[in-house]
Amino acid sequence: MNPIQPFPITARLPVPARIARPPYVDKPNYREHGGSDIQDEATIAAMREAGRVAHLAILEGAAALAPGVTTDMIDRIIHQFICDNGGYPSTLGYRNFPKSCCTSVNEVICHGIPDLRPLEEGDLIKIDVTVFKDGVHGDNCMTFGVGQLDQASTDLMIRTKEAMNRAIAAVRPGRQINIIGRIIENYAKRFGYGVVRDYIGHGINQVFHSDLAILHYDQPALKTVMEEGMTFTIEPMLTLGDFHSHVWDDDWTVVTNDHSRCAQWEQTLVVRPHGAEILTAP
Ligand code: MF3
Ligand code: CO
Ligand code: CO
Repeated sequence: MNPIQPFPITARLPVPARIARPPYVDKPNYREHGGSDIQDEATIAAMREAGRVAHLAILEGAAALAPGVTTDMIDRIIHQFICDNGGYPSTLGYRNFPKSCCTSVNEVICHGIPDLRPLEEGDLIKIDVTVFKDGVHGDNCMTFGVGQLDQASTDLMIRTKEAMNRAIAAVRPGRQINIIGRIIENYAKRFGYGVVRDYIGHGINQVFHSDLAILHYDQPALKTVMEEGMTFTIEPMLTLGDFHSHVWDDDWTVVTNDHSRCAQWEQTLVVRPHGAEILTAP
């Protein structure tokens, strides 16, 4: 398998003036603030709508995946879909990120910038979309194969989704948040997968990334307790080899040092009395 190389990035796509932007756009040093770990019902309803658009946007983009299609083309489709649905693509202008989604191919762990690289048969691609609508964000990611995927990549893709789902199923008010990482790490271990540690899940609300930290590995010292109305993402990244990573000169693209492939799934959820409600759902 050839290592992923950087390709040219096209000009920034415009967003219609009527669509409200989050406050950090084009302010690379802006520190997000405000927002609470726990939301009221009106905020949850708004996040459900932002999450719905974010989820459907991934499916729109994924429908176009094929050998020869560029990740830039996927980004255009997703950008258009989000704007058509009255949302702002949260990543566009976030700390200088230049596109409306992240497209992370093969050994790219996350934060891949859509560019003019044509997808190849057998590529493993993560599409991560966040939408800002009615003042709140919804954030999700899915992994896909381009054409025929090899068995090891297929297994990694399915088991990473399963790891996320097992963690989501353990969400309950009163439980420590560290149960999430314990479940994901223990499941990943069965298959010898690497668990990425440098990129984590996060609280999300009016703020894209709040200070609430969701680790995907076991960290018993993390004593945060889940509460009803709490909103956060669970977004495990599992690798076929070692989890250690570095960032490209573009300051965004995160790749495994050993070039092993990575899968990621993410959902935004709210803690309900009897478990998690997924907010990034159709
Ligand atoms: N959506 C990513 C997450 O899951 C964050 C992307 S930030 C970007 O938190 F700037 F890289 F797009
Ligand atoms: Co996220
Ligand atoms: Co995301």
